[in-house]
Amino acid sequence: MNGSGEARGKVAVAEAWARLRAIETPALAELFAVDPARTDVMTRRISWPVMPGSDAQAGMVIDFAKTHLGPDALTAFEALAEAAGFDAARAALFDGGIVNPTEGRAATHGALRGSGTPAQVEEAEALLARMGMLVEAIHQGALGEVRHCIAIGIGGSALGPALAIDALTRDLALVDVHVVSNIDGLALEQAFAACDPATTLIALASKTFTTIETMTNAASALKWLADNGVADPGGRVVALTAAPEKAVEWGVDETRVLPFPESVGGRYSLFSSIGFPVALAVGMDEFRAILSGAKAVDDHFRETEGRANAPLLAAFADQFYARLKGCQTRAVFAYDERLALLPDYLQQLEMESNGKSVTTDGTPVDGPTAPITWGGVGTDAQHAVFQLLHQGTHLVPVDFIASIAPGDALDPAHHRALLMNCLAQGAALMAGKPSDDPARAYPGDRPSTTILVDDCDASALGALIAFHEQRTFANAVLMGINPFDQFGVELGKAIANQIDSGEGEFDPSTKALMAAAGLG
Ligand code: F6P
Repeated sequence: MNGSGEARGKVAVAEAWARLRAIETPALAELFAVDPARTDVMTRRISWPVMPGSDAQAGMVIDFAKTHLGPDALTAFEALAEAAGFDAARAALFDGGIVNPTEGRAATHGALRGSGTPAQVEEAEALLARMGMLVEAIHQGALGEVRHCIAIGIGGSALGPALAIDALTRDLALVDVHVVSNIDGLALEQAFAACDPATTLIALASKTFTTIETMTNAASALKWLADNGVADPGGRVVALTAAPEKAVEWGVDETRVLPFPESVGGRYSLFSSIGFPVALAVGMDEFRAILSGAKAVDDHFRETEGRANAPLLAAFADQFYARLKGCQTRAVFAYDERLALLPDYLQQLEMESNGKSVTTDGTPVDGPTAPITWGGVGTDAQHAVFQLLHQGTHLVPVDFIASIAPGDALDPAHHRALLMNCLAQGAALMAGKPSDDPARAYPGDRPSTTILVDDCDASALGALIAFHEQRTFANAVLMGINPFDQFGVELGKAIANQIDSGEGEFDPSTKALMAAAGLG
């Protein structure tokens, strides 16, 4: 866009926000009262074949009816999306445009699951095929007996694999994978204690292959193998990285380096070779099922306009609460043990992507950006933090996520009670309950969104992740920010290096703490 075009765009965005601010917010009960069809109007379904090529469909429904988005707000948000250039931004995302301008890069995570330009998809498929061959070879004993894998990585190189492995290996794991991220040696020691060095593979996951936590843990893992009689520790290492030359330089044999493109962001990289430990644990077919669920969401996101588009509609709700209602947090509760790590995963995805203060043109944002994502697992959280949600002074939009099919084989009473509780919380937040006793009154009119997957299987996991990726992207477009850089993490790393080297000026408080910690 040229200068005057940009200025016109900014004016249109400002006008759209002004229009949104002027809309009165009806109570949730009123929205249901004026539109008896509200539940249908505000529910989206995304489906995918149960098996590749099968006619039977599985999927997920997303019920936005208990958000305060009424017809006026939806129309105004659609106008905002248009003014913010949502269609062009979405096209750029899938067409390999530079959607990460501060680093001059495209964001090609979509291509990993088939949503990108033909050339990107072809490259991704070739890399995936290579990963599949290595996984297959390891399962067949090419590297000797492999019963355990210590997968070392951090942030985007750990959170996705940890989530997927935790979600998908409840019944059976082909290889017992332990994801280790923290530089605190206790984390690695815990993995050592659970693994037999003679049958353990080390997977080093790092986009940059420079991250201090990962490189420190990698060296200690190799030492552990050597100290425990493994003749060729280096021969037990697989590297997953966008910097293959660095992995080779570090000592990993080229045949065991699985690269992925630089244009895949760390927090978007589960679908790349960063997913190798997942494929090792669940097999390539299951891994491909994760990709197929994600692809179904990509297709929906790519082809669906305005409020019918589920990730965009979710972003409308996110913007409504963060920008118009001043909500500083949003909560996610998974009513499924298999998704226990989803809130952690979403924290990085949403907060590292959209926790920004400047727009893509470098000017300060004109409102709050990403709310703080937090959450936990239901029903546990009901007995810990839900008091605040129901009666506290913060307004917290809540997402509930549950699986219609149970994950357990116990008495169906367990799953029935899990779902009952999940649905009851959304209903209670909305309905509230008056009381003559103020301490016992529930204000109600508190928003929630409920996502029900047919079954919490590999494809549903991929769909859930892609839904949140596209939701995060849509939020960024509405706010005019770049979700694909993360310069905010650099300063702390640089100062840690200065503390290590003792070079640099430190404030008196940090100096005193350094002395107390023996780092002076
Ligand atoms: O410090 C933040 C970060 O760069 C994340 O964005 C990334 O996922 C993580 O560190 C790990 O980085 P790498 O995969 O390069 O080791």
